[in-house]
Amino acid sequence: MLLRIPSVLDAPSLHIMRAALEAAPWVDGRVTAGFQSARAKSNMQLPETHPVARAQGELILQALARAPLFTMGALPLRVFPPLFNRYGEGSAFGIHVDNAIRGAAGTSQRLRTDLSATLFITEKDDYDGGELVVEDSYGSHSVKLPAGDMVLYPATSLHRVEPVTRGTRISSFFWIQSMIRDDGQRSLLFQLDTALQQLTRDVPDHAATVSITGVYHNLLRQWAEL
Ligand code: NI
Repeated sequence: MLLRIPSVLDAPSLHIMRAALEAAPWVDGRVTAGFQSARAKSNMQLPETHPVARAQGELILQALARAPLFTMGALPLRVFPPLFNRYGEGSAFGIHVDNAIRGAAGTSQRLRTDLSATLFITEKDDYDGGELVVEDSYGSHSVKLPAGDMVLYPATSLHRVEPVTRGTRISSFFWIQSMIRDDGQRSLLFQLDTALQQLTRDVPDHAATVSITGVYHNLLRQWAEL
């Protein structure tokens, strides 16, 4: 399941974040790539431990904590500290799959990458190209979202970033270990939760709400790994 999470960051936060990132020291993006993906990658990244990356990443984590759609869709157990990349003209990232296990720099914590996230920081009109293309069993999905919006997609999927042909595209990217490892099970829980919220809104106090809520939590109890 691909899930768009609109307006994770508002315009004032984006403005501050862009200013901080533009002044930061970017390095070759191959530092975080695995063996296969290093060959496909030509972008720039902020070093993971740089104070700007840490501070701006923390703001993103705080924003995610206020985004119910993220919690519903990802059912997060651990979130990797957000990283930042920059694609200038001619930069691209060819087709690859993200590494399965990630360790955050300076910590002993490891995380299984169940979901990948891209948060768009540059305004859409400020660059051409740079679409994130995710392939799943339904085909190829091209994703280019307004600044502040985020897409969540299964980390198991092949994906790529199309070449940027004008301007610069800055984004944040990171991974989530979900309480629900399986994308199909996680999607079912999301659909059930969404339908339940709609029912609660449209037919308040319907007797079935209690039993459907019970089904949701009992499925979560059966499937969740903590
Ligand atoms: Ni990737």
